[in-house]
Amino acid sequence: MTADPKSIIDQLDDIEAEAKREWDQADPKDRPTIKSRYLGKKSKIKSILGALKDLSPEDRKTVGQKANQLQNSLNDHFVLDQVQSHRKAQYDHTLPGRVQPRGHRHILTQTMDDVVQIFYGMGFEVADGPEIESDYYNFSALNFPPDHPARDMQDTFFLNDEYLLRTHTSPVQVRVFEQRRPPVRILAPGRTYRNEAISARAYCVFHQVEGFFVDVDVTFADLKGVLSAFAQEYFGAQAQLRFRPSFFPFTEPSTEVDVNCLLCGGKGCALCKYEGWLEILGAGMIDPNVFTAVDYDPDVFTGYAFGMGIERIAMLKHGIDDIRVFYDNDLRFLQQF
Ligand code: DAH
Repeated sequence: MTADPKSIIDQLDDIEAEAKREWDQADPKDRPTIKSRYLGKKSKIKSILGALKDLSPEDRKTVGQKANQLQNSLNDHFVLDQVQSHRKAQYDHTLPGRVQPRGHRHILTQTMDDVVQIFYGMGFEVADGPEIESDYYNFSALNFPPDHPARDMQDTFFLNDEYLLRTHTSPVQVRVFEQRRPPVRILAPGRTYRNEAISARAYCVFHQVEGFFVDVDVTFADLKGVLSAFAQEYFGAQAQLRFRPSFFPFTEPSTEVDVNCLLCGGKGCALCKYEGWLEILGAGMIDPNVFTAVDYDPDVFTGYAFGMGIERIAMLKHGIDDIRVFYDNDLRFLQQF
């Protein structure tokens, strides 16, 4: 080998061109051999590097740098080319893409969100409470006397003597009243439980949304106003409400509210049990005993409260005639919403 640096550099250039040409034209199975021939221990480049000691210090530097650059450039060429051919083998860019299934909110979640949105527009804030509740919040503080038959109306899953699965969202009223002073205007959506025989109209788990407003001079007319506005907004302009007298320990007076059956237009059908009306909520003016228990002065403050069944309103709006379908998780049902 000549010790003329110029000719060594020419040699290196030739090696580069030759190596790349050989690599590009080679059958992929021969490529490992080519790679080791040009970059392995016994390569021409290595022997040139080995002969650097015969050069002057300056030439050594120039030639050394050039040889190193060449090794890097060949290495990049080989690697890049391998990556590209691997990609080509893996992806056919002309194929249409696979459609990824996309999930969405459950119809009950959508319904609760819609209800919250409507009341949010009327100035309500959202609150929540625990699903494992004490007897005190679920019953006593809501003016259910001990051993009163009203407790039996709500077939309860008791966990022990003190705790139970809440049978309604009304305990959230008490929890909020303990924390805040009027005015309070709250909406509390959530899950509730009852130990009832399962049927097309009743399930052991269901959802309610509790709403309540306490301030000075709140009247039953205010209650009718917000509920009517809600019904028009949620069900549409044809929705009408019917207020029937009822009883709840925590309201006086109390009412149950029906909406005209939207499926049959009030003529009577299986969904409304041929009544033309469907009950969607219980409501009333908050009983002074509830206020006293949380240290609100019933001579100063009045308030209304309501508790609405989420499954009920979803069934009515979408013409669903069996509550169990919400819990079966049959995609053919869920995907409709
Ligand atoms: N908590 C009652 C139930 O589950 C519904 C209800 C009635 C809620 C009257 C209220 C109310 O806030 O004022 O059956």
